[in-house]
Amino acid sequence: MSAKKITVVGAGHVGATCSQLLAMKELAQEVVLVDIAEGIPQGKGLDQWESAPVEGFDTRITGSQGYDAAADSEIFIVTAGIARKPGMSRDDLLKTNARVIASVSEEIKRVAPDSIVIMVTNPLDVMAQVALESTGFPRERVIGMAGVLDTARFRSFIALELDVSVEDIQALVLGGHGDTMVPLHSYTSVSGIPLAQLASQERIDAMVERTRKGGGEIVGHLKDGSAYYAPAASAVQMAEAIVKNKRRILPCAAWLQGEFGLSDLYLGVPCLLGENGLERIIEVDLTDEEQAELETSAEHVRTTVETLENLD
Ligand code: NAI
Ligand code: 2OP
Repeated sequence: MSAKKITVVGAGHVGATCSQLLAMKELAQEVVLVDIAEGIPQGKGLDQWESAPVEGFDTRITGSQGYDAAADSEIFIVTAGIARKPGMSRDDLLKTNARVIASVSEEIKRVAPDSIVIMVTNPLDVMAQVALESTGFPRERVIGMAGVLDTARFRSFIALELDVSVEDIQALVLGGHGDTMVPLHSYTSVSGIPLAQLASQERIDAMVERTRKGGGEIVGHLKDGSAYYAPAASAVQMAEAIVKNKRRILPCAAWLQGEFGLSDLYLGVPCLLGENGLERIIEVDLTDEEQAELETSAEHVRTTVETLENLD
């Protein structure tokens, strides 16, 4: 199963990695890269297409400055904007990226009104809201990528700590994409064995802390940019769940309407992804502590939305 066309907006680090992965997995017959930077989407798209004979994929990759090439795309992965630099918080990106996402959303609505949007640009939860409002799409068709990445980081740290395969580790990180994210201890296990039986509370706390700071750790190494391999893999996993109607349950940012006692904001929650995009939000039981942490995370997202409204 593959889509006819998937467009990646923003041909930077995350976007270009997404297009290469989409093509290597043959998730679409055509992948379009769109970016305002002249020549960049064309050059990267052509370079990736030239890897097709070696890798053995038939997905055509093209690049463009405009959106006509993106007409009728089933899915848009939106990575356009500026990335976090050292010393810069995700919220610093707010104003610039909100403008970018509003204009990108207008174009998406114009050329592909039935498409599904996977938002990646930071600050994620707020940019997803900007896209929801600017496209006017239903919440089923505007979903944010953060939880898959945060959960992947947590799983990767657990695998290192226990020296076991990442494949056997189940975890769920909810909440906003930021330092207030909520790793759910009660849903973390290794082949069904609760993590608490395999690691001390002190080690678990250290892994949770490293996960919360995971984005910053990469920025600290790269100095001039933020993570992109794991973020792109995460966005593409969401696209794959939709394109193949896999009905996977993945932690994604969804527009809440009463779920977990919260409304009118994007927050990372367990989502069932299928051919219609967000098919269902799964309201798992939370401990009182986890619910309190989710509400703190929601408060942080709301504060950022208010900051943006006051900037306008
Ligand atoms: P990058 O700087 O490498 O790429 C961004 C690209 O967007 C650039 O090529 C730029 O020319 C393009 N762009 C800017 N304005 C545009 C517009 N109006 N239309 C089309 N393209 C436009 O940045 P990178 O590393 O690819 O990150 C992209 C975004 O993704 C950042 O906001 C970053 O913070 C975010 N991010 C989010 C993650 C998440 O978990 N949600 C994880 C990693 C990154
Ligand atoms: C990350 O978590 C920058 O949000 C991005 O790596």
